[in-house]
Amino acid sequence: MEYHLKSGDPSGQRTACLVLGVYTKRRLSQPAVAVDQASKGHLSKILKKGDMDGETGQSLMLYHVPGIQAERVLLLGLGAEKALTLKSYLTAWASAVKLINESSVIEATNALNAISIADVDLAQQLRETIITTEDQLYRFDQCKSQATPPKRPLKKLHLNIGAQKKSQPVTRAIIEGEAIANGIRIAKDLSNLPGNICTPSYLANQAKQVGRQSTKLKVSVLEEKQMQALGMGSLLSVSRGSREPAKLIVMEYNGGKPKSKPVVLVGKGLTFDAGGISLKTSAGMDEMKYDMCGGASVIGAMAACVKMALPINLIVIVPSSENLPDGAANKPGDIVTSMSGQTIEILNTDAEGRLILCDALTYAERFNPAAVVDVATLTGACIIALGAHASGLLSNDEKLADELLDAGRRASDRAWQLPLWDDYQEQLKSNFADMANIGGKGAGTITAACFLSRYAKKYKWAHLDIAGTAWLSGDQKGATGRPVSLLSQFLLKRAGWAK
Ligand code: BES
Ligand code: MN
Ligand code: ZN
Repeated sequence: MEYHLKSGDPSGQRTACLVLGVYTKRRLSQPAVAVDQASKGHLSKILKKGDMDGETGQSLMLYHVPGIQAERVLLLGLGAEKALTLKSYLTAWASAVKLINESSVIEATNALNAISIADVDLAQQLRETIITTEDQLYRFDQCKSQATPPKRPLKKLHLNIGAQKKSQPVTRAIIEGEAIANGIRIAKDLSNLPGNICTPSYLANQAKQVGRQSTKLKVSVLEEKQMQALGMGSLLSVSRGSREPAKLIVMEYNGGKPKSKPVVLVGKGLTFDAGGISLKTSAGMDEMKYDMCGGASVIGAMAACVKMALPINLIVIVPSSENLPDGAANKPGDIVTSMSGQTIEILNTDAEGRLILCDALTYAERFNPAAVVDVATLTGACIIALGAHASGLLSNDEKLADELLDAGRRASDRAWQLPLWDDYQEQLKSNFADMANIGGKGAGTITAACFLSRYAKKYKWAHLDIAGTAWLSGDQKGATGRPVSLLSQFLLKRAGWAK
């Protein structure tokens, strides 16, 4: 897809399809008023007929609108003007993209970016517009013998910003939006691939592929032997139950000053989670191919950061393994020693995410991080608590937590904080080791985070549980690419390039 920034009156723009906003009670948005005047009231006349009144998601395609250069006008409902938010705008825009992509129109003009939204700057609006556009156009047909793409897909989009200035942040926002959308696409592709294709080795090779993007990005992959030497007994205990060798993917991007401390992102890269000896039930088990979405999202965020050329240092670490039942697999009651030296009694082999993450968190110490954020499809309990709308957020640092919550709000990729009180630590007590790997019945998302917090004491750390947000189930089954947007926003802000 090509994106072009345009300014000026949209009525003068040559385009196959001009998208204009209409608020409830058939009120025309400001760019639509200009078109209405140029067409001598054509739009108002049509709206009076009552075919649409401006509710969010409504649309009406018009042909032969007199007095303007556009071949078609797509009127798009934006809801009540006072209630317009970035989220409601993006919902409406998403429906427009779907409609246009399925029509014969291959080039269109979005005249909605001339409308300002409270608390959202133009750069943010443009980035989000591009991200939503690409999200709508995304298809995953790598594994079909015959792909069936739309006959005349949308190829070029003009973003009309009216009388607003093409300042540097605004022109840069186009590149940023494309970079983030590309990161999301990488995350979705990796996530949607089945476990027999996307193995730990495949994931590692794809990370290396991303590494070819820039000389400022170095990618290395630690093999089991090296992990053994580092004492990663917890991570390796999970991979022992599988024939695919574990990998520890390490990506290092040096875009900032040599001495500035890096942000470290850690992602759970479990390419298939059958539960191990604590085997899962079969219904829906196919979805456990998505247990590497955390890893895919941090690789995607890295790709976005590199494409944006952010002036920061960023490290990505992805511990990757399968979790399968096998003669050599972990057994309930087994005790393993982590790289930190702490011992773990494995009471449930299905709580394996924390077992691979804890060693990666210890490994992160060597980078002397400014902050560490781990991203994981860690607990089914998080889906019970927050459903598919918010990722769970837990942190040992309130400022870092607030930063991530804010990034999520701004990027329409929200998280919600849960408490990490010491009270919950009790639930991890073990009679035989330093800790158990499960915390019993209540507060599963919190006790999982409590477990991780014991490996994150040396730095500012936050944990995102994306079990509910990383993919959709049912007939819409597919990866969402979350939380690449949240992470990218967080990094943009750290770079001083966004609010
Ligand atoms: N990958 C799962 C968590 C999960 C389950 C994500 C369902 C998305 C949907 C994780 O490894 C797991 O199995 N967690 C267990 C932990 C329990 C044994 C304490 C869970 O949530 O049931
Ligand atoms: Mn599991
Ligand atoms: Zn898992």
